[in-house]
Amino acid sequence: MKLAKRLENIEPFHVMDLLGHAKAMEKAGRDIIHLEVGEPDFSSPQGVIEAGISALQQGLTHYTPATGLPELKAALGNFYQERFDTQVSPEQIIITPGASGALQLITSLLVNPDESLLLTDPGYPCNRHFLANINALGQMVPTHVEHGFHLTPNLVHEHWQENTVGALVASPANPTGGVMSQNQIAILHESVSQHEGILVVDEIYQGLTYSGVENHTAAGLGEDVFVINSFSKYFTMTGWRLGWLVAPKWAIKPLDKLAQNLFLAPSTPAQYAALGLFNDTTLNELEARREAFSERREYLLPALKALGFSVPVDPQGAFYIYTDISEFSQDSMKFCKELLEQEGVAITPGIDFSPTHGHHFVRFAYTAPVTRLKEAVIRIKRFLVNNYSA
Ligand SMILES: Cc1ncc(COP(=O)(O)O)c(C=O)c1O
Repeated sequence: MKLAKRLENIEPFHVMDLLGHAKAMEKAGRDIIHLEVGEPDFSSPQGVIEAGISALQQGLTHYTPATGLPELKAALGNFYQERFDTQVSPEQIIITPGASGALQLITSLLVNPDESLLLTDPGYPCNRHFLANINALGQMVPTHVEHGFHLTPNLVHEHWQENTVGALVASPANPTGGVMSQNQIAILHESVSQHEGILVVDEIYQGLTYSGVENHTAAGLGEDVFVINSFSKYFTMTGWRLGWLVAPKWAIKPLDKLAQNLFLAPSTPAQYAALGLFNDTTLNELEARREAFSERREYLLPALKALGFSVPVDPQGAFYIYTDISEFSQDSMKFCKELLEQEGVAITPGIDFSPTHGHHFVRFAYTAPVTRLKEAVIRIKRFLVNNYSA
């Protein structure tokens, strides 16, 4: 049977192979420490679960409007006002099946076949595949350590081509945990505007910043800015598959049309469940979880450096540490496989995130309690001694 040609441009998510292998080892009785998949280990807050159950018990299982439940859009509008002092009208918010759904909408809305979006290298791998899926291109821009692996105005000018329609960045970023300041976003926006392009800012890790690093939003920056977000990470609702998009008003009607056709509507029980987030008890619970992530980062970052992992840019957000392993290996997939097989510690090879340097980088997700991170460090040390000491 013949597959569509575009499949040739869509690579698998390599970490999923490792995850499958780790799960099989677990089934066979091995104790595995999971630091590979980008999802919080915390379950959804009780308030969310109760709101979801209540919706199901009330029979709220029918379609909502394609752009989402009006009450949830209103709650998000308030959230932007209260957290960021930014006015976002509910009509500008489109609820989607995860940030993944928002990315699919944005790419379908903005990019013609053979046109491109500038993407960061390293960056979230699915972005270029969303583009490949509409026969468009993800133009990977190798970023620099000196600039925290961020896309800069200079890089925008250097890489912009006739077929480029915009740039997509994430802050806080996956896999680096880097956070762009409000000023960095503003000047990036300016540089993209100079080319009459669109800036898309993926704020999926918003709320997860540490050591006093500011939280801000690009929502409201201009008519040429789209913001993507999700209930997956800070709100710990990965499995509910719910995210959102903040779009300029001119784009709402076409986005509504696309949402109607691509998804019909986001999950109804998930949207009612998300309404259970916006109260003090739940928001305080989420803040306590952020603090737990912060403690984990404070433990793991120096511990990895002490083991000889080089961390070119200290992460300030998300829940990732992106490390250079050239000291040990030039084959990140092999390194990750051997660490998993020998010591039962699962981490992600950099090849998922960077075509240029991913073979000598790996990503650690601190999505396990400190006690487990300590055990992981003991095992990694033994792995390095057994395999890489002179
Ligand atoms: C930067 C980034 N964007 C988007 C997503 C998609 O997340 P979801 O569809 O669960 O909201 C992820 C998931 O890890 C991510 O890291």
